[in-house]
Amino acid sequence: MQVIICESPEQVGSRAADIIEARVRQGPAVLGLATGSSPSGTYRELIRRHREEQLSFSDATAFTLDEYAGLPLDHDQSYHSTIRREFVDHVDLPLSRLLTPHGDAEDLRAEAVRYDEAIREAGGVDIQILGIGANGHIGFNEPTSSLNSRTRVKTLAGATRSDNARFFPGGEVPQLCLTQGLGTIREAHQAVLVALGANKAGAVRAMVEGPVSAFCPASVLQLHPRAVVVLDPEAASQLQLIDYYRRAQELNDKLLGR
Ligand code: GLP
Repeated sequence: MQVIICESPEQVGSRAADIIEARVRQGPAVLGLATGSSPSGTYRELIRRHREEQLSFSDATAFTLDEYAGLPLDHDQSYHSTIRREFVDHVDLPLSRLLTPHGDAEDLRAEAVRYDEAIREAGGVDIQILGIGANGHIGFNEPTSSLNSRTRVKTLAGATRSDNARFFPGGEVPQLCLTQGLGTIREAHQAVLVALGANKAGAVRAMVEGPVSAFCPASVLQLHPRAVVVLDPEAASQLQLIDYYRRAQELNDKLLGR
């Protein structure tokens, strides 16, 4: 796992955007998009590069990670609407190639299987953007999720529902969701996880330095051959080997002529 510690949230957005841009400029890319506040700086930076530096997503396809059960695509708080608002509507990625699980499908289990197959049929995700929950979840794979799980219906943890209650003022956070599984996410060719702030420091430590364990679902990235974790100083603050990561990063940057 490559750990990059940045000086500010802005720098986190820019480092993560560099990695995504490099892949997008290589040719038609299948992007895995995450919602949540963590990657929003990355999306802002990609939008800026689209507007000012001719970074085009016209050949790209995108799959989102997860969706609340029961919400139609056009619901204000569906992840489909969120990712459009935060990213897709501001770049030239064709809307027909934004693929999200349908949270209002009549048969949610069948929808999960369909979605997992659609990812496979597209040739898999080239580059998956991820955030991390304070309880170590990625997507909506809550603690104890199987490390080999596929896209499926999942019950949201109480902590996740409280974290996300701010988006449902006066309403209930759904109890269920559809999420790509940890096995699905692991198949992405490359993974870039961004984490910001002190409330993610414990989860980041468990992910990077703890054992690979279903209790910290993000730790599955230790098994991924091309996973990069981009952190601000607060999110990195509990890492035991912080000096080592900084030195490795300096040497790596030198090698790449940064
Ligand atoms: C949500 C999403 C995750 C996201 C996480 C953290 O529950 N399903 O994909 O990574 O929360 O969100 P935030 O980045 O807003 O802290």
